[in-house]
Amino acid sequence: MKTTDTGDLWWKNAVIYCLDVETYQDSDGDGTGDFAGLAERIDHLADLGVTCLWLMPFYPTADRDDGYDVTDHYGVDPRLGTHGDLVELIRTAKDRGIRVIADLVVNHTSDKHPWFTAARRSKDSPFRDYYVWRSDPPPDTSGEVIFPDQESSIWELDERTGEYYLHRFYRHQPDLNVANPKVRDEIVKAIGFWLELGLSGFRVDAVPFFMETLGTAESEAERFGDPHDHLRAIRSFISRRAGSAVLLGEVNLPYEEQLRYFGDGQGDELTMMFDFIGNQAMYLALARRDAGPLVDALRARPEIPPDAQWATFVRNHDELTLDKLSAEERDEVFAAFGPQEEHQLYGRGLRRRLPPMLDGDPRRTRMVYSLLFALPGTPTLFYGEEIGMGENLEVPGRLAVRTPMQWSGDRHAGFSPAAPSRLPSQVTTGGFGPEHVNVADQRRDPDSLLTFIRTLVARYRESPELGWAPVEVLDQPHGCVLALWSEVDGEAVVTLHNLGPDAVVVPVDLTRAPGCERLVDLLSEGQVEVDGDGVEIALEGYGYRWLRVVSDGSRRLP
Ligand code: NOJ
Repeated sequence: MKTTDTGDLWWKNAVIYCLDVETYQDSDGDGTGDFAGLAERIDHLADLGVTCLWLMPFYPTADRDDGYDVTDHYGVDPRLGTHGDLVELIRTAKDRGIRVIADLVVNHTSDKHPWFTAARRSKDSPFRDYYVWRSDPPPDTSGEVIFPDQESSIWELDERTGEYYLHRFYRHQPDLNVANPKVRDEIVKAIGFWLELGLSGFRVDAVPFFMETLGTAESEAERFGDPHDHLRAIRSFISRRAGSAVLLGEVNLPYEEQLRYFGDGQGDELTMMFDFIGNQAMYLALARRDAGPLVDALRARPEIPPDAQWATFVRNHDELTLDKLSAEERDEVFAAFGPQEEHQLYGRGLRRRLPPMLDGDPRRTRMVYSLLFALPGTPTLFYGEEIGMGENLEVPGRLAVRTPMQWSGDRHAGFSPAAPSRLPSQVTTGGFGPEHVNVADQRRDPDSLLTFIRTLVARYRESPELGWAPVEVLDQPHGCVLALWSEVDGEAVVTLHNLGPDAVVVPVDLTRAPGCERLVDLLSEGQVEVDGDGVEIALEGYGYRWLRVVSDGSRRLP
């Protein structure tokens, strides 16, 4: 693989960073983060090495699901700024080599969206068919709701017209009817609008849900055919309008089912998908201090189309869902990382960030981030992970991990000078509060987590094998160790991670690299001379090493 390839298929070794403009940096002192504030902080992202910024929904919203309840797909929430401020941000990011993508929320709208207010006015409304209705009382769907603490059915009675509308998420988020060609047209038109303004793609919310034609008349569903046509049409539209734009999908399904969303063998649907299965397996492996579950998940990853990619992550803005583990496995993770009721959500996930889950153990925290960047795929960071922010359990539900970014130890973490009551959410307190965890303290400290993650990003970016290589797990005798061989076109990196607390010595078989002369440490000073078919590599408890395989003809800088 030539380095120039990494520019064409930029998403295959990008470093993605997700943030919510609302909680990142307030520039005008009104208590809400805004685009102008984010633009002021762009050099923090550039310095970190981020190459793709994912903006959580910034559209006008009824604000009952942190922006995932859109009232205007063409607008910018006035609290965050204007279209002009957004374009300035995109332009400034581009100047620093950072692409910007944004959440595309088209499974549902807010019930305050003008389409829905028109649709519910009368059965004859021209917008009625923008949503999914049924007239007969729905069956019990309490097992299908996503937020069991607040909903007991996926159907809600609309009193005025006496029919029920479908809502996969909250009742204030009616599902759009994607079998309606007008809705499909509306969706691509909005996509086209944001591409014109300079976005490089989208994180597509709740993909499997918007592919359903549940509740639509059978004849209608038949008429509009395979729902994957909808995704294919979106992808082909994007390719025509902006060839290198990406669709990064939220598809939390078993691998075999996920594959379809890449477009089977064709690669003509989503460009990327989050690896939820790998993420959940990673937490089980961490809880057990045994790499086994992660090895199994990596080996089970199906082969994906050549231009497609997995997005790996440690945490995101939602609860850390463990829904694909068995009940016993989930309990193991709960016991290890969130034993108290207040740590858990919906019986399936954790509302904590990583460092508190690891009791603040810096060795283990670094090992997990090293692992994130070593896993085949494209790493995605959630804001604040680079400095080791914790959650605030006082903040309700999933918002516990969406507290203001901690820039300094000053008032409100340097996020905003406004009165506390005006902030979108209270700053984290305690051992992970801003007086202990902030960017200002870490940015020049050679031993900080921020400096460490900056190093991971730099080494990951210059080692495209890590992003591109197919999974190759090396056999070795320690259950607590994950040993990966990442090779593309004869260039290889070996990564070793010890998920256990005790030091080990890992034998690494080098027969697959016959000319190998030495292994050079990429994360620290050091190298291992090779004389024969293998070497033994020492790892401390929770230790990690990335080793570039160097031979006579190596093209990459060791
Ligand atoms: C998934 C998003 O990640 C989540 O935050 C949101 O509540 C639901 N989709 C509904 O949009």
